[in-house]
Amino acid sequence: MKTLLYSLLICLFLIACGTAKRGEPAYAPVADSEPAIAQGQVVFNTYCTKCHPGGEAGLAPSFNDKPLPGFLMRFQVRHGLGVMPAFKEEVISDDELDHLIAYIKTLKKAKDDKAAPAS
Ligand code: HEC
Repeated sequence: MKTLLYSLLICLFLIACGTAKRGEPAYAPVADSEPAIAQGQVVFNTYCTKCHPGGEAGLAPSFNDKPLPGFLMRFQVRHGLGVMPAFKEEVISDDELDHLIAYIKTLKKAKDDKAAPAS
């Protein structure tokens, strides 16, 4: 009987957590009209977004709110830091990394535009 109660509680917990994540995305949608940026978005969604949801803070700090230079982000992706794993060339090629950085820059721009709408 107790086991059943616990399973029910766990189910309720999972359902509650599941619904909290649905709905509006917490980040601005990004124009993906440029093929390179669209490709960067695919790389991002494959490897990065689980810890950096849309560039916002998730498991990891946000990076859409600070001007991180491209070479630093490249270094971070190639070598990792702390909990963040390294992504070697076999996983993310140099071309893909270029697209990825371009996409991350659009995330930051989208965030800036949202914070200060052009008047
Ligand atoms: C397993 C979770 C995880 C994944 C996957 C991950 N990161 Fe990270 N990332 C982290 C953590 C944790 C940090 C903070 C590291 C620290 O400062 O100790 C971080 C930091 C960063 C930073 C620096 C942020 C700052 O404030 O200086 C950048 C840029 C970054 N990640 C980019 C990426 C990109 C691009 C990808 C995809 C290729 C990626 N990360 C995938 C966990 C992750």
